[in-house]
Amino acid sequence: MSIFGLPLSVTARAGTNIALVKYWGKRDAALNLPATGSLSLTLANFGSETTVRFAPDVQSPDGGDRITLDGAPAPARFAERVSRFLDLIRHESRVGLPAEVATHNSVPTAAGLASSAAGFAALALAASRAAGMNLAPAELSALARQGSGSAARSIFGGFVEMAAGTQRNGSDACAQELLPAGAWDVRLVVAITSDAAKAIGSSEAMERTAKTSPFYAGWLQAVPQDLIAARAAVAAQDLAGLGSVAERSAMRMHACAMAADPPILYWNAATLVAMETVRRLRAAGTEAFFTIDAGPHVKVLCAARDAELVEPALAATPGVLRTLVLAPGPGAEVVREERR
Ligand code: PMV
Repeated sequence: MSIFGLPLSVTARAGTNIALVKYWGKRDAALNLPATGSLSLTLANFGSETTVRFAPDVQSPDGGDRITLDGAPAPARFAERVSRFLDLIRHESRVGLPAEVATHNSVPTAAGLASSAAGFAALALAASRAAGMNLAPAELSALARQGSGSAARSIFGGFVEMAAGTQRNGSDACAQELLPAGAWDVRLVVAITSDAAKAIGSSEAMERTAKTSPFYAGWLQAVPQDLIAARAAVAAQDLAGLGSVAERSAMRMHACAMAADPPILYWNAATLVAMETVRRLRAAGTEAFFTIDAGPHVKVLCAARDAELVEPALAATPGVLRTLVLAPGPGAEVVREERR
C-alpha cells in the first residue's frame, strides 16, 4: 500500500452522468452485470470527491471503516454499501486494514442526478490507488460497476458507452469513451419536479421489471438497435439523431417499468408537463430532447447556445421547482495523493 510503509491518502473526483440509452436490467445481480449496454454523457462540476486511506489506526466505534458524508458520519445504508465495496478492494489487494473514507457530494440532494454514479467512480479510483493497485481505466470501470452500474460510465468523460459484456466474471462489462467532453458543446438542462426521495431504488425496480413486466423481453431486444443509432449520432455530432434515440430509450424503459407488477411509475404531473414543454420547444424550431431516470425529473439535451431558451421555458413550466444547466465534463481523476 505504500513504498515507504506510510499509508497513502488518495483523493479522487468524478462527475455524475446521465444515460441517453438507458441501462435497465441485470444479467447477474451479484456481480452487478447489466443485461444490455448503455450510452451516457458525463457532466462537469456535479459529482463526488472522495478521500480514502487504509490504515491500522482508523478510529471507528466498531473497529470497522470510518465513513463520513459531507463532514458528518454517513447514514448506515450508505456506510454499509461503501464498506461492502471496500471489501472487494481489500480482497483483490490483500490490504486487510480498515479505511477512512470522506466523501463530499456536489450533486444537489433529491436532484435525481445519480450521486451513486459519481460516488462509486470516485471511490473506485481513490480506494484502489490507496490500496496500492494501479488499475487501467477499463479495469477501474469494471470495479466501479460493482458499486453501481452507472458508475462504470463516470470513469470516463464526455460521451461514454458501457458494454454489457459476455464474460461470466464481468471483466468485459466496462465502459469506454466515445467522444471527449470538449468535442461537442451540448447541455443538459435539468428540470427538478420534486424534493421527495424516490419511491423505489433502481436495483429493486430493475429486478421487479425483469421478473414481472411482459415488456421486458421487448426492451432487451430493442436496446442494441438504439445503441447502434446513438453511437452513429455521437460520431456525427447529430443532435436530432441522438435526441430522438434518447427520448425513445427513456420512454421504453419507463413503459417497461410501468408494466411491472406491482407497477412502477416514477413520474408526477410536472414530469408530463415538462415533456410537453420540450415538444413545444421542438415544434417552434429548437432542438431539445428529454430523458427521464428513476425519478420524476426531466433532463433535456440541447445545443449549448439553445440552453438560454430551454432553461427559462422549463423554469416557467408549472410544477417545475428548479432548473440546472449542466455541461459535459471529464472522467474520474486523482486530485491529491499524500503519505500520512
Ligand atoms: O446505476 P444504477 O443502479 O443506479 O441504475 C441506473 C438506472 C438509470 O439511471 C435509470 C439508467 C442509467 O442507465 O443510468
